[in-house]
Amino acid sequence: MIELEDLTVAFDDVTAVADVDLRIDRGEFVTVVGPSGCGKTTLLRAIGGLQTPTSGGVRIDERSPSIAQDAGDIGFVFQQHTLLPWKSALENVTFLREMAGESPDREDARALLDSMGLEGFEDARPRALSGGMKQRVAIARALHLGADVLLMDEPFGELDELTRDELGVELRSLWRRERKTVVFVTHSVPEAVFLGDRCVVMGDRPGRIEAVFDVELPEPRDAAVFGSRPFQERVAAVRRTLHENHD
Ligand SMILES: Nc1ncnc2c1ncn2[C@@H]1O[C@H](COP(=O)(O)OP(=O)(O)O)[C@@H](O)[C@H]1O
Ligand SMILES: [Mg+2]
Repeated sequence: MIELEDLTVAFDDVTAVADVDLRIDRGEFVTVVGPSGCGKTTLLRAIGGLQTPTSGGVRIDERSPSIAQDAGDIGFVFQQHTLLPWKSALENVTFLREMAGESPDREDARALLDSMGLEGFEDARPRALSGGMKQRVAIARALHLGADVLLMDEPFGELDELTRDELGVELRSLWRRERKTVVFVTHSVPEAVFLGDRCVVMGDRPGRIEAVFDVELPEPRDAAVFGSRPFQERVAAVRRTLHENHD
């Protein structure tokens, strides 16, 4: 379980995260949506121990984020894939655990790449892969770490819309199999609604949670969901909240 208590992160001229209280259960998929600059990345970095809070704190299964991270319990996926250009897809997946002193588990890495639809691309360098494929490798890399918690910062933000929907469907189905705890940050309302069990809405003023929606869409969530009325109603509700909190 992830617990945020009175979490505040202030920079010189802006409070990027202001008194945030949030509990995320083990195995829950939570999305965080809000306009650019509202503090999403800072919130995620604080959860992952990459950003020290100004006050309040974060506990991950009763531990500090940095201890959880040292234990290999947190996997990150960013908008920029951060793959090493000189390594193959497979080597990129195994690399982080090798850095931690383990011998590479190629079987596991191969199976993960297969499950992400990358069979046959194990030896390809990142430059030979499309944007969507690179993000699949980045997700496989996070899973290979064996982390229980996945922190994702606009991982599909630079992809075309169709690829983005496709990867969303795959991520949700992967989550149903693996039941990781996922915190997924995006500025896309449809993406936040499609993926989340709960959707946290941040407003224009930096750092504030304006509302938390229970999404409750039928499972499995496949591409047909995008055209369904319940989905569209929830998207409209989240949009309303965003507009109401827009100056
Ligand atoms: N390292 C930093 N130093 C100073 N200000 C920062 C820093 N990181 C973020 N900010 C500011 O905090 C606010 C929230 O930023 P960020 O968390 O990146 O928002 P988002 O990810 O929602 O676009 C912005 O006003 C941004 O300029
Ligand atoms: Mg951001």
